[in-house]
Amino acid sequence: ALERALRPRRLADYIGQPAVVEQMEIFVPAARNRGEPLDHVLIFGPPGLGKTTLAHIIANEMGVSLKQTSGPVLERPGDLAALLTNLEPGDVLFIDEIHRLSSVVEEILYPAMEDYQIDIMIGEGPAARSIKLDLPPFTLVGATTRAGMLTNPLRDRFGIIQRLEFYEVDHLVHIVERSARLTQLEMDNHGAREIAARSRGTPRIANRLLRRVRDYADIKGGGQVDRSIANAALDMLKVDKRGFDHQDRRLLETLLEKFDGGPVGLDNIAAAIGESRDTIEDVLEPYLIQQGFLIRTPRGRMATRQTWEHFGYRPPERWQDES
Ligand code: ADE
Repeated sequence: ALERALRPRRLADYIGQPAVVEQMEIFVPAARNRGEPLDHVLIFGPPGLGKTTLAHIIANEMGVSLKQTSGPVLERPGDLAALLTNLEPGDVLFIDEIHRLSSVVEEILYPAMEDYQIDIMIGEGPAARSIKLDLPPFTLVGATTRAGMLTNPLRDRFGIIQRLEFYEVDHLVHIVERSARLTQLEMDNHGAREIAARSRGTPRIANRLLRRVRDYADIKGGGQVDRSIANAALDMLKVDKRGFDHQDRRLLETLLEKFDGGPVGLDNIAAAIGESRDTIEDVLEPYLIQQGFLIRTPRGRMATRQTWEHFGYRPPERWQDES
């Protein structure tokens, strides 16, 4: 099944993120019952945790349409103006990677968000004029991987700010079991737990691993997933007991083996492993930091005692006297 087919469409079907769900279960019906659009919503969090899913749920629960775009796609003010002027009253405009809006496009957004109005320039040179257009009331849902990357004036215009956290294993077990049910896969709870525990706290990864485990089970396990089939499939996929994949291990092992555990600057690590700074900061680091395998210090990134131990090394002196 496609990823999209597995996404929950209602808040009641959303598993995990209890703080977010608890708040949205108040804010959404409150706005809907008043017949108003929901206040603008900003969603932060690492990739794969459900930012897009949540945007769709908001539109669905409000009974409106969702129009989707992304920061880098909106090159000129007119690109955004075209979208805004085509909205129906109450619609959700979802802007993914909203931190990558150019400043000229971002400035169109301010009066649009505050007063449902835009000022656009038409024409060029001496004949150029600014015209004001009224917009239908709408809800902007913005998504971004990193909190720090948004300008203050933009952040200040969101009435609702939600931060998505990595999922607990128990919640991922439910997500994996739900996906198995929807794809008519036979799997026991141990199999689901094995996949959940190795999914980096991330539903998108859990669902991807589930599809590969299913392939493995179809060929080697009579189509049924239990602990040993899940284990064997995940070992074959080179996802380790901590859920670290090839890229995670490359980052951590480079940090240990080439930089003696750090501290080392981001640019040096990026060059050593051949990944961009953005990928390291947005995709790789958040989970490693949350799990206590990497720390950010003023002098750069450092491995922790756990990191040395995970890769089978005796931790260096500096970690010896701590427990
Ligand atoms: N599939 C992906 N993420 C999910 C979530 N948070 N709840 C239920 N199903 C999901």
